Amino acid sequence: MTKTTQQLTFSTRIDIEEGVRKELIDILNQQLADATDLFTQTKQAHWNVKGMDFFQLHELFDDLAKRARNFADLLAERVTALGGAALGTVRMAAEATTLPEYPLETVQGHEVVDLMVERWAAYAASTRAAIRRSGELDEPTTEDLLTEISREVDESLYFLEAHVQRQ
Ligand SMILES: [Fe+2]
Repeated sequence: MTKTTQQLTFSTRIDIEEGVRKELIDILNQQLADATDLFTQTKQAHWNVKGMDFFQLHELFDDLAKRARNFADLLAERVTALGGAALGTVRMAAEATTLPEYPLETVQGHEVVDLMVERWAAYAASTRAAIRRSGELDEPTTEDLLTEISREVDESLYFLEAHVQRQ
């Protein structure tokens, strides 16, 4: 988890109470760490996948990696809009991420898809939990940003699961 004790905040005229801003900054920095990890892991899949479906998976993973990188940008800029410091380096992400590490030995297409499904599903769940908490904190703008991300995460999960779903 993100270290709340290291949280740096700046004064701002934004009309959101400080306690609410601080909790949201922690939530957003946690999502930022996971998004950064998800971005690098999806790139890892893009580079290392093997098998007869190589090319289409290589392309799909590249598209999903771009999405994850964009989530990180949106989250980081919401942190700073709330007067927080974005914790956005790869070292910070490595320390704070809740996702499991990418197993190097996993290379065959369907296994890599399973691995991606697991991580994108975890990110879908944490995003939805963050939406709920933003709602409880009565902060609709952060809730809306997370909802925008959530729609794209769910679609990405669908793209991945369509490769492995059975009736
Ligand atoms: Fe590439």
